[in-house]
Amino acid sequence: MNLQYPKMSNNSLLTRRRALRLGLATLTCMGAYAQGKSIARGQQAQTLEDSEREFTVVGEASLKERAAAKGLIYGGAGGFEELLDESYADAVKRECDILVVGNELKWDKIHPSQDKFDFEEGDWLVEFARDRGMLFRGHTLVWHQAVPDWLKNTIDSQNAEQLMVNHIREVAGHYAGKMHSWDVVNEALDDGEFRKTLWLDNIGPEYIDIAFRAAHEADSQAMLVYNEIGIEHDAKQREGVLKLLEELKAKGTPVHALGIQGHIWAVGYPNNVNYEELRQFLSEVASLGLKILITEMDVIDSGTPAGIETRDRLIATIYEDFLSVALDEPAVTAVLTWGLSDRYTWINSHFPRSDGLPSRPLPLDEQMNRKLAWKAMARAFDSAPSRSADCNQHCKNSVKLAGKKN
Ligand code: XIL
Repeated sequence: MNLQYPKMSNNSLLTRRRALRLGLATLTCMGAYAQGKSIARGQQAQTLEDSEREFTVVGEASLKERAAAKGLIYGGAGGFEELLDESYADAVKRECDILVVGNELKWDKIHPSQDKFDFEEGDWLVEFARDRGMLFRGHTLVWHQAVPDWLKNTIDSQNAEQLMVNHIREVAGHYAGKMHSWDVVNEALDDGEFRKTLWLDNIGPEYIDIAFRAAHEADSQAMLVYNEIGIEHDAKQREGVLKLLEELKAKGTPVHALGIQGHIWAVGYPNNVNYEELRQFLSEVASLGLKILITEMDVIDSGTPAGIETRDRLIATIYEDFLSVALDEPAVTAVLTWGLSDRYTWINSHFPRSDGLPSRPLPLDEQMNRKLAWKAMARAFDSAPSRSADCNQHCKNSVKLAGKKN
């Protein structure tokens, strides 16, 4: 599975080649689906064609309550305009203990011109979270997308480091003391190699270390996260991430956690996720002394069958399989989905289905009802090993930030 999708984000239409590939992959996937090809889930083999698979959940407790019962944090991404929708805001409050900002803290929104920072929507979102006793999470200080034109036109190898560090100081400084965690650097690798970005071109690979140090100076309390895409699907990406994290730790870079985005393609599943390798990877990251967050989970259902029942079963299967493996690793301390309800998802615009039907990537449907994917998540939390004994400094700060009793 390649990592094309971040590159497509400025283009909401599928290219013909991609549509063709998705079509072919769908056939492969459906082949596996029909033949009941076995997949690794934990130590067990499950079958995708198993329409008997039960997603039974006991009780009505929310995802945040089930996660918290295991010492985990569950939450989702939200944006300023989405959260003005009261039914969405209520659902977020009911299900989530942490809010991550979808787009409002990205460069193009928060730093619209060289001398101007615009914190208005970000501040509103902080208040939204605080008023509801939720933690708040920042995304993202350094990325190759959402780059404002002024920056593209100004940056050169002489000023790049200063521009980046100044941005981090201002933004992380503004929110210091309010953040559970920050995605300091997002998606620096592509297929395990340094991604060609304006930061790499103008500063060199050391931009990552510099960014983390600047973030730590600006906010010494937030958990600082290296966030990456494609880890679930690509062995080279896992190798590259591990190497990068080892190097950062060896240099004493203040990186505290790895963020695994968790945008999982349903097409090609289960062959596109190697759970044994993923387990090994998680344990190697943990052995570096890092925490792990699942930061942006959703299931991309482009190219899957139209029928809602079949689709929802496939999506739920992926949620439960993936989270069961991830949560077996004690270093995984939080799970976030990229949104909460199918009413607000980037999948519809970035990976539209060729049949024009709306995507169903998230735990709640468009009417805020709990779907099978919700049950799959609830089951994964209910059967996760408890990590409540391990409340480290970040965890204590988090508890304090949300005004909760420890
Ligand atoms: C996406 C947003 O959801 C879209 O609204 C925006 O147009 C593009 O970015 N990985 C990330 C997120 O780290 O920032 C991306 O969010 C999704 C992929």
